[in-house]
Amino acid sequence: MIIIRKILDMQKMIKEYRQKGMSIGFVPTMGFLHEGHISLMNSARPQNDIVVASIFVNPLQFGPNEDFDSYPRDIVRDEKMASDAQVDILFYPDINEMYNSAMSTTVVVNERVNVLCGKSRPGHFDGVATVLTKLFNIVNPDNVYFGMKDAQQVAVVDGLIKDFNFPINLVPIETVREANGLAKSSRNVRLTKLEKQQAPYLYKSLQLAKERIKQGEKDPHTIIALITDYIDTHTDGNIDYVELYSYPKLTALSKISGNIIIAIAVKFTEVRLIDNITMEVCKEE
Ligand code: PAJ
Repeated sequence: MIIIRKILDMQKMIKEYRQKGMSIGFVPTMGFLHEGHISLMNSARPQNDIVVASIFVNPLQFGPNEDFDSYPRDIVRDEKMASDAQVDILFYPDINEMYNSAMSTTVVVNERVNVLCGKSRPGHFDGVATVLTKLFNIVNPDNVYFGMKDAQQVAVVDGLIKDFNFPINLVPIETVREANGLAKSSRNVRLTKLEKQQAPYLYKSLQLAKERIKQGEKDPHTIIALITDYIDTHTDGNIDYVELYSYPKLTALSKISGNIIIAIAVKFTEVRLIDNITMEVCKEE
């Protein structure tokens, strides 16, 4: 695996691969890799001649009171994991390389951001879209791999690719979970011992909701109340949101029907966790 730290080196190398007609798969990450990231790399591996992963903790997508400084980092471990996953190139720029001077142009996301994390983290998706615009231009990939753990991010990236005509195919990948159902996340290391026992109830609440919908529940409010009660009963976390929308458009639903997402965010002492499930609900005749 080659490690590249400079934008120009990255662009030069990709140009050479492209001239040889090779395809490029790209997995953008913020590092502190886990099986969720690895599953994106494993999906990219057989579908592309060259697999590029990036590690960059992007300050633009963190709010002033969020965890940019304390975001976990371990580049030595990450290098080994990416290399074991047969990544060809690890792009690992430092902050000055990515944001050498204040950006004179940034990307603003207009749709699909007035709900869920877009609402509770103002500016977050503008930061994501801006760094991805840079990374897409640096790596010039054919295929990009994103996890459904961040389903709203997938919806936003889909819009970014279409709006700015990036010739890129977006591949969404299913959420990887611990055996107890907890969605793998770099932030899980910052849960206390007790919170680690409580956190799996987030996914359990989503499964309970799914069951209830399968049994015929059509009222979003009933489902939201069910999840809220369940999380309040089983965890000490503070609910940031429990919401149910159409997916991928993320529009409000008066009745549960079609492709939907149920998404939750819960704040624990040091860390805010998110999870979601998407499902297709048969329309009534
Ligand atoms: P990060 O949180 O490091 O996640 C990188 C990618 O891994 C994202 O596409 C995310 O959805 C995916 N991922 C995380 N946990 C996962 C899990 N349990 N199962 C499957 N996929 C999982 O998302 C970001 O970084 C940043 O916003 C980024 C896109 C890199 C832009 O800065």
